[in-house]
Amino acid sequence: MKILILFFSFVLAYNVEALDNGLAQRPPMGWMSWQRFRCLIDCNLYPDDCISDTLFRQMADRMSEDGYLEAGYEYLIIDDCWLAMERDEQGKLQPDPFRFPYGMKNLSDYVHSKGLKFGMYEDIGTRTCAGYPGIQGYLEIDANTFAEWDVDYIKIDGCNAEQSEYEQGYTDFGMFLNNTGRPIVYSCSWPAYLETGGTPANYPYLAKICNLWRNWADIQDSYNSMTTIADWFAKNQDRFITSAGPGNWNDPDMLLIGNFGLSTEQEKSQMALWAIMAAPLLMSVDFRTIDQQSKDILLNKDVIAINQDELGLQGRRFKRRDEDVDIWIREIAPIVNGEYSHAVAFQSRREDGAPRAMQIFLSEIGLNNPFGYFVTDLFEPTNFKRVVNRTEEVLVRVKPSGVVFLKLVPQAN
Ligand SMILES: *[C@@H]1O[C@H](CO)[C@@H](O)[C@H](O)[C@H]1NC(C)=O
Ligand SMILES: *[C@@H]1O[C@H](CO)[C@@H](O)[C@H](O)[C@H]1NC(C)=O
Ligand SMILES: *[C@@H]1O[C@H](CO)[C@@H](O)[C@H](O)[C@H]1NC(C)=O
Repeated sequence: MKILILFFSFVLAYNVEALDNGLAQRPPMGWMSWQRFRCLIDCNLYPDDCISDTLFRQMADRMSEDGYLEAGYEYLIIDDCWLAMERDEQGKLQPDPFRFPYGMKNLSDYVHSKGLKFGMYEDIGTRTCAGYPGIQGYLEIDANTFAEWDVDYIKIDGCNAEQSEYEQGYTDFGMFLNNTGRPIVYSCSWPAYLETGGTPANYPYLAKICNLWRNWADIQDSYNSMTTIADWFAKNQDRFITSAGPGNWNDPDMLLIGNFGLSTEQEKSQMALWAIMAAPLLMSVDFRTIDQQSKDILLNKDVIAINQDELGLQGRRFKRRDEDVDIWIREIAPIVNGEYSHAVAFQSRREDGAPRAMQIFLSEIGLNNPFGYFVTDLFEPTNFKRVVNRTEEVLVRVKPSGVVFLKLVPQAN
């Protein structure tokens, strides 16, 4: 009962406080160019990899035809390095004429013709992080340009701006987006620039103006980068978990899955932790060359369902490194007799060879339903698939740097 009341007041708070553009009711899912393709702009040297019309059309084709769109990944998002170095004569943004010869509206139409939504990138400052024109001084004209191009999602980075300019800039740009009348998901990198500089961000305010926000530093293609981000989120979780919910999300940055830096077990770890954190699932991989194992992890529909859970309650790290295995927990639907279902991830930081066996009572992690829980293992579906009761120990074996990811649904009687 107490849980239900808490949940109800949480939902009420939302209707009053949060950005109301009707979007991002679940964490956004899609693909973004940066982590895999960065700022490769030499199309003579790297014709297949350069940031260009061709690359995005090929990714749109693969996304819509290879099962990603069907699994829920709907936004195709162009990150930095799409722009020409100068605005046009009317002061409007324009893409690089050689790499985007048909213009952005034409590419947007193509992406939409594949059933996908179209996302773009800009920067609140004078220049983007890679040095292209920023939106400072052009907020209204640029919001209108994005709406003319039928953009559905915009990431606004925070390079080349003063800290004192962020609040006004991000707030005003949100207002100009709203004025266009086009529903556009608004992703704000503002807090990442504050938090990495040691200043705590105002998350309740961010929830009023942005659909999602990057809290912390950029991800790099390594397990160390991924776990550093997860640890920062865990350490600071109490400051921003309550600002997440339908319409508003904390963003720990892109999925590395399918690239160069993570092993298969580490890829499962990222997918599980991002699901617990209700993180946007933004892939950044070359769909033309991804291997089947990584693809299966990205398309795991049970794990995606945890990420996209209807309650939108962000999970947390519950316990740190018992035997060097972290336990992460998220409350999810369905609620049975006033008890939440739960997703529980055991994520190992161990490096010794054998899978680590761990035995726990469900009550140790706060799960006290008298009739027990139906348990499924989301990456190893042949495990469990049965009711575990309060007086029974759950045994999991967690591979080094891997994860065991369980879903537990309370039984009614
Ligand atoms: C995009 O531009 C190409 C080349 O000019 C043209 O053939 C095509 O019809 C355009 N596509 C759309 C959707 O406008
Ligand atoms: C603009 O803001 C109003 C008030 O919050 C909201 O009702 C409306 O849906 C928003 N429109 C767009 C296009 O975001
Ligand atoms: C819990 O499980 C044990 C072992 O399977 C069983 O003997 C016991 O009856 C169960 N208790 C409840 C309350 O279901």
